Amino acid sequence: MDETFQLPANGSFSFAGRTALVTGGGRGVGEAVAREIHAGGGRVAVSDIDLAVAQAVAGSLDATGATAVALPLDVREKDHFLTALDAITGRWGKVDIVVNNAGFAKRTPTQEISPEEFDAIVQINMRSVFLSCQIFSEHMRANGYGRIVNITSLAGQNGGTVASPHYAASKAGAIMLTKYFARYLAGTGVTVNAIAPGPIDTAKARLSPEQIARVEAEVPAGRFMAVGEIAAATALLASDRGGFFVGATLDMNGGLYLR
Ligand SMILES: NC(=O)c1ccc[n+]([C@@H]2O[C@H](COP(=O)([O-])OP(=O)(O)OC[C@H]3O[C@@H](n4cnc5c(N)ncnc54)[C@H](O)[C@@H]3O)[C@@H](O)[C@H]2O)c1
Repeated sequence: MDETFQLPANGSFSFAGRTALVTGGGRGVGEAVAREIHAGGGRVAVSDIDLAVAQAVAGSLDATGATAVALPLDVREKDHFLTALDAITGRWGKVDIVVNNAGFAKRTPTQEISPEEFDAIVQINMRSVFLSCQIFSEHMRANGYGRIVNITSLAGQNGGTVASPHYAASKAGAIMLTKYFARYLAGTGVTVNAIAPGPIDTAKARLSPEQIARVEAEVPAGRFMAVGEIAAATALLASDRGGFFVGATLDMNGGLYLR
């Protein structure tokens, strides 16, 4: 298996006239999603807690800032979402698409997880989805159009095999928030959906060669998902053509979990 396997952004879906916010867009899945939407003709606000990486991605998409801009956004902070909404509407008039991608996994042995660490993981992976949906749903409802895509995890569906309990629980909560907001907004032109990925290429940097080989042996598809594959699925859910997905969770796990 070619370990450098990637899919370039090809803009298969049209985002002409659309504006998008991607959280955690400075690298990995978020970067790939930002590139995909931009390749489809969309304007993209690349946000990240690390402004420098967001600036690198946005600058590589459009150094003039006309169609891509970097924003500092820590998804634990409600004020940061409000500031991002103001910044994007000030620049481009509206927010059509929000991809809640930023997330954080910590593998702490179960008996060593403190209440503070549990709360911190929930804040990043789950409360962030609530804050984002709460804020952008009102803006999108008023516009009569919106697409929200939440990047969750297989761990939120099956409890996780290597993932820690706080990560699995926070991602399960994000899937439920997806369903809640999908129903809350159904019929308004605003859709809310999720993707539940299994192992993605980006995780390889954090794993030993032995761990990588073990994952590849466990996944029926025999490999990790390329970020371009999850970017393509996100583009479908975020596109005009994805309007009949309402509260769905797309399984992208190479056959690890079939339901
Ligand atoms: N990598 C995997 O195998 C895998 C599997 C299932 C689900 N996921 C989920 O997919 C999403 C993307 O994963 P990835 O592998 O690209 O992650 P990554 O760690 O490569 O990138 C995450 C990005 O989010 C940013 N970030 C971290 N904390 C933030 C915060 N508080 N506010 C804003 N930005 C923050 C980081 O700076 C980074 O740019 C995450 O939600 C992750 O939980 C990943």
